[in-house]
Amino acid sequence: MSELFGDGPARDSRFVVKERWAEMHNAPEGDPIATQEFLHRQMNEEVNSIEISARNLVDFPDAPWELRMAMARQCWDEARHVDAFRRLFEKRGGTVGEFPVLNFQYRIVTNLSSLAGRLTVQNRSFEAAGIDAIKDGIATYGQAHAADFVELFEAQLADEVQHVRYANEWVKRLAHDGGARIAFEIARAVAQADAALKIVAGGALTTYPVSDDLRREAGFTDEEIDTVRSLAQRD
Ligand SMILES: [Fe+2]
Ligand SMILES: [Fe+2]
Repeated sequence: MSELFGDGPARDSRFVVKERWAEMHNAPEGDPIATQEFLHRQMNEEVNSIEISARNLVDFPDAPWELRMAMARQCWDEARHVDAFRRLFEKRGGTVGEFPVLNFQYRIVTNLSSLAGRLTVQNRSFEAAGIDAIKDGIATYGQAHAADFVELFEAQLADEVQHVRYANEWVKRLAHDGGARIAFEIARAVAQADAALKIVAGGALTTYPVSDDLRREAGFTDEEIDTVRSLAQRD
């Protein structure tokens, strides 16, 4: 699309890949298809998360060992999430490839040139927003007594908090050690991802209530949580 996006990840012939939210199968809320479409879309997003972390390992071989271990563990966690979403989707009668998929996360994040920038956008932004969304999902599906959904979300949530937390720790360490150059790369990554996301979403960006407790557990300061909340309200 533009210099804001890298190449997409490979997908086999079962998948139809779209580039913008508006091209997806966006069923109205309450339609039974909407739930199936969500599970399928989320399954593919979890694949994106594996692919991004795996690319980080390949693209930044000189990153500190503990950070590389955290990214490798993330691949393992995300693989479990893919399986969990696929299982539930298929149990409810779904067929992989039934709906189109988006690979915007991979295309935005792997296009960023620094590891600090990638962790900031993928883990501290996309996945942190995911934490808010999962918490919202637990409440919604809990009210509907959908125990299989709640179980999936709770297992996923524990992992996602850890993904955000290690990124919070490491981005701060990388910024501390790398000084102004890393700070500049982080700021540029955020601006680039912001612009790219607007192209993908086209005004359809959904935000969920910011979860103070979980974000604190994931390593955000109170000041950072306030900033996220005021940005969400501004959009
Ligand atoms: Fe995940
Ligand atoms: Fe994750």
